Amino acid sequence: MGDSRETQSPKAFVTGHPVKHSRSPLIHGYWLRQLGLAGSYRAHEVSAEDFPAFIAALKDRSGGFVGGNVTIPHKEVAFKLADRPDELSKELGASNTLWLEDGLLHATNTDGRGFTANLDKRHPGWDRSERAVILGAGGASRAVIQAVRDRGFKEIHVVNRTVERAQELADRFGERVHAHPIAALGEVMQGVGLFINTTSLGMDGEAAPRIDFSPLADGAVVTDIVYVPLKTPLLAQAEEQGFAVVDGLGMLLHQAVPGFEKWFGKRPVVDEALRALIIADMDRHT
Ligand code: ATR
Repeated sequence: MGDSRETQSPKAFVTGHPVKHSRSPLIHGYWLRQLGLAGSYRAHEVSAEDFPAFIAALKDRSGGFVGGNVTIPHKEVAFKLADRPDELSKELGASNTLWLEDGLLHATNTDGRGFTANLDKRHPGWDRSERAVILGAGGASRAVIQAVRDRGFKEIHVVNRTVERAQELADRFGERVHAHPIAALGEVMQGVGLFINTTSLGMDGEAAPRIDFSPLADGAVVTDIVYVPLKTPLLAQAEEQGFAVVDGLGMLLHQAVPGFEKWFGKRPVVDEALRALIIADMDRHT
């Protein structure tokens, strides 16, 4: 006879504030059904004030969860409260995926793996270039800088309106990362093979500034981590100018894979039907 806990189906969560717009329950629900697994994944809105108690209940198992995802504004506190944050989270100072293992709370950050897996799938060869330009130096750009550096890019140029924020990231992520003001954008794009937007410019259909992508290398790829709208104004401009583009939706889908595998025991696949499900949901809510 096993412990009754072991016979219960695993429960996972996404927590944030607000969390109701999260598409993670749709993603994990799709995989649970597709793989025929017993388990649940639900959104739990938790305020910053209540978050430490939520994590305490996760650790002592009174919450009944095997782990979950953490989104804004809890990623930094989740990292601090975890017993075993991995090296990726330690460098970022933030975790988005938590799981219990041997009675301890483990934490990682899967955004960078989501970013690279999306490009690997949608534009193989994206990593042939030695130089990348990253526009933006906010929270979302950190995992991208880390991922591009760890893939082996030799020069990573972070361009930001507030150059001090870009400089902080250059200091954090090492000598291959360089900071520049927006005025230097055209110059640093010269001959570069990968351009990544991590800013909110053009999000939710807002107007975006005109960018001349022509200094990029022939065959360069332009990608955006924003996925609402799917084709952001920056991607539309890059495409018009003849460059290959990859949208950011795949990053969201792929970043969910490691957590699902930890909580439910099987590695899920990002397929076109999942992508279509999320696009249909976006169409309903925009
Ligand atoms: P996130 O965590 O989602 O990255 P953030 O920390 O608010 O959000 O960062 C948003 C990014 O978009 C920053 O790089 C920001 O530039 P600043 O650091 O100068 O604020 C950039 N951004 C937002 N609006 C912008 C605008 N109108 N022009 C240029 N950059 C903008």
